[in-house]
Amino acid sequence: MATTNPAGPVAAAAAGRPVDPRLHAVVARVLGDLHAAVRDLAITEPELRQALAFLTELGTAGEWQLFSDVLGISVAVDANTHHAAGSATASNVEGPFYRPGAPLVAEPVALCADDEPGDVLFMSGQVRSAAGGRPLAGALLDVWQTSQAGLYEHEDPDQPDWNLRRRFHADGAGRYEFRTVAPAPYQIPHSGPVGRFLAAVGRHPWRPAHLHLKVSAPRHEPLTTMLYVEGDPWLHDDTIFSVKPALTIGLTRHDQPDDLAARGLDRPFCTAAYDFALQPAGPGPA
Ligand code: BEZ
Ligand code: FE
Repeated sequence: MATTNPAGPVAAAAAGRPVDPRLHAVVARVLGDLHAAVRDLAITEPELRQALAFLTELGTAGEWQLFSDVLGISVAVDANTHHAAGSATASNVEGPFYRPGAPLVAEPVALCADDEPGDVLFMSGQVRSAAGGRPLAGALLDVWQTSQAGLYEHEDPDQPDWNLRRRFHADGAGRYEFRTVAPAPYQIPHSGPVGRFLAAVGRHPWRPAHLHLKVSAPRHEPLTTMLYVEGDPWLHDDTIFSVKPALTIGLTRHDQPDDLAARGLDRPFCTAAYDFALQPAGPGPA
């Protein structure tokens, strides 16, 4: 079996059609690998029909993106696209649950009401330029996460609209702080073909608890990333393979009466810290 068609661009050019060399290189490589797999694994016609029916069903269910996520392709492509050079904070995939236009709020920032169920978490840090570490005054943060039940607000009728989704600005020194509740691990949608695929290959649909963030500032590349919680049972077994050690935060628990009084709380709370470093955009001063 021929594994690639090196004459492809030549033949197309001869036929007067424009040739995209990048597309040709990608198709030649992927086809070569697929042909080798079909041959080495002796794939049969019933197996091919089953695979084609599954791929058709993926499209009907609108789950191609989710399939790319659980195959680890989305994370690999994110790494190819956003090179976190030097001290810049590593990027991560946006995921399917981002809602643009979350409420823009001022200090003191809270992602939810005070009576939101779960462990209160105060998250703070600074946004800086990865070039030289200059604080990025007024940087914009856009944060979204699940409730303690592991549900985003749009999939949970018990949460108010936009719950646990907020945008806010860092202060003049690039510092930010917000109040929220500790996020929880959750299962990605698994009632459709992707769920069946995971079960068929002996995999689970769990993601470790995480916060999603978009951080932006003038003259810097916008950053989309996630922060994971140390000690989470799924930290080393994320179904989309997206955990990076540099994006892990530790939660410190506070239960002393003085600490509670200082925060005006009547129950223990957690704190966590994370500084973001944004990559300068293009040449010129950052
Ligand atoms: C998420 O983090 O929300 C997510 C990412 C990829 C697939 C499903 C969910
Ligand atoms: Fe998520």
